[in-house]
Parts: sequence; C-alpha cells; structure tokens
Amino acid sequence: MIIENYKRSYLAGLEVAERIASYIRKTQLENKHCVLGLATGSTPISVYQELVRMHKRENLSFENVYTFNLDEYCGLRKTHMESYYYFMFEHLFSYIDIPHKNIHIPDGKLRENDIHNYCLDYESQISELGGIDIQILGIGRNGHLGFNEPNCDMNSITRKIELTETTRIDATPSFGKLSCVPKHALTMGMQTILNARTIYFMAFGESKKQIVETAFTKNITEEVPASFLQSHPRCYICLDQYTNITEQ
Ligand code: PGA
Repeated sequence: MIIENYKRSYLAGLEVAERIASYIRKTQLENKHCVLGLATGSTPISVYQELVRMHKRENLSFENVYTFNLDEYCGLRKTHMESYYYFMFEHLFSYIDIPHKNIHIPDGKLRENDIHNYCLDYESQISELGGIDIQILGIGRNGHLGFNEPNCDMNSITRKIELTETTRIDATPSFGKLSCVPKHALTMGMQTILNARTIYFMAFGESKKQIVETAFTKNITEEVPASFLQSHPRCYICLDQYTNITEQ
C-alpha cells in the first residue's frame, strides 16, 4: 500500500479523478474498454464532481467505460432517494456519456430465491470484462469496505450480508430513524475488491481517524476488513489532514 497524505479532502478527490481520467484516456487511445469499481457515500463525491467537470469542460468521454458498484441496500427501489442507484445517477451517471448498459449496480429488489445466482452473475460479468481496473473505496467507522462488515471472509465474493448495528446507526440520519434503515445489503466480496488491479482508498475527517490508524498501522485482521488492503500490491491510501498517518 502507498500512503498519500493530502492537506484537504477535495485535493485528494481531484488527484484521484485526474488519475482515473488519465487511465480512461489511455485505454481510449488503445481502443480498449476500462472497468471501474465505484463507491457511494460522502467520501467519493469530490471525485465524481471532478469527473463530471472534466466531461463537460475537457471532453473526457466515458463511452468505453464499464462500472460496477460495490453495494446496494436490500429492499430499496432504484427510485428510493437513499438507494445507491439513485446516488450514482444523482452524482455521476446523469451528467456523463456512459452507455447505460455499461452501468452495473446491485439490484436491491430481488426475490430471495434469485439473489444467489444474481451475485454469481455479477462476478461473471466483472470477469468477462477482464476484471476491475480501478476500484474506489471509502471506509465505514467499523472498518467495512463496501458492506463487507467486520469478521467477513477475505475470500468472499458478491453476496447478501446482514448490516451491523454501527453501520445502520451511521446511516440513520439519512433514513430518519434506525428502524427505517435496511437490515441487509448486497455487496461485492472482499476477494472481488482485492482482485482490482489498482485501488484508490479514501478516508477523510476526524470521525475516520481512529479506524484508519487501526486498519493501516496494525496487523491485518478480519475484524477490520480495510486492513486486508495492506496486502494489495497497488493500493493508494488517500488521506486528509484529519486522517493523516505515516507508513510504519
Ligand atoms: P462515507 O461512507 O463515505 O459516507 O463516510 C463510507 C462507508 O461507510 O463505506
């Protein structure tokens, strides 16, 4: 892992967006497609804003880009304002030229019997496109990546999981009350994430300071899923002045 400390979170966002744009342009020159793994939450918003700006002002095209989102709440329709489907269109997809057939976001409204095969198919689609080139990640206060909650398996693939109480409490302000926060979600697995060729992990703000220190300055442990990133050969840990750590 490569730790990059930025003074302000938006500067990290600009840099990550710039590197993603360079990669997209490189694949376009080579007449190839590229595959991005995308995250939701407040952390990656500055990346998406900058990508939208580059699309509008600098002719950055997303026509050869395929995307796979990390996760989605079970039970929410695409039109639900707290669904990650809604989030992605609100912050990115509505403003760029990505073909809609290239967008993949786990479906929160599947029938229970269909979930297993759907998750296997999600994995197959990623593999058939050659795997994820660049994965963006944030982190939950409990160390989750996507919705791979503490004590998840490092070899896990896309599946349905039960959300922890910490995650549900953190989501409560958006849903109004705890009882409205979904109890389950679909998430890409830890293995799916770790298979990405390049990872940009971002964590900003005082509330993430402690978990960032635990994840990256202590031993790798499944109790802190983000600590698995320590073993990734090309993972950039992008931090701001609050989460700032130096490599041990
Ligand atoms: P946040 O969420 O970016 O809104 O802090 C990150 C996460 O829970 O994974």
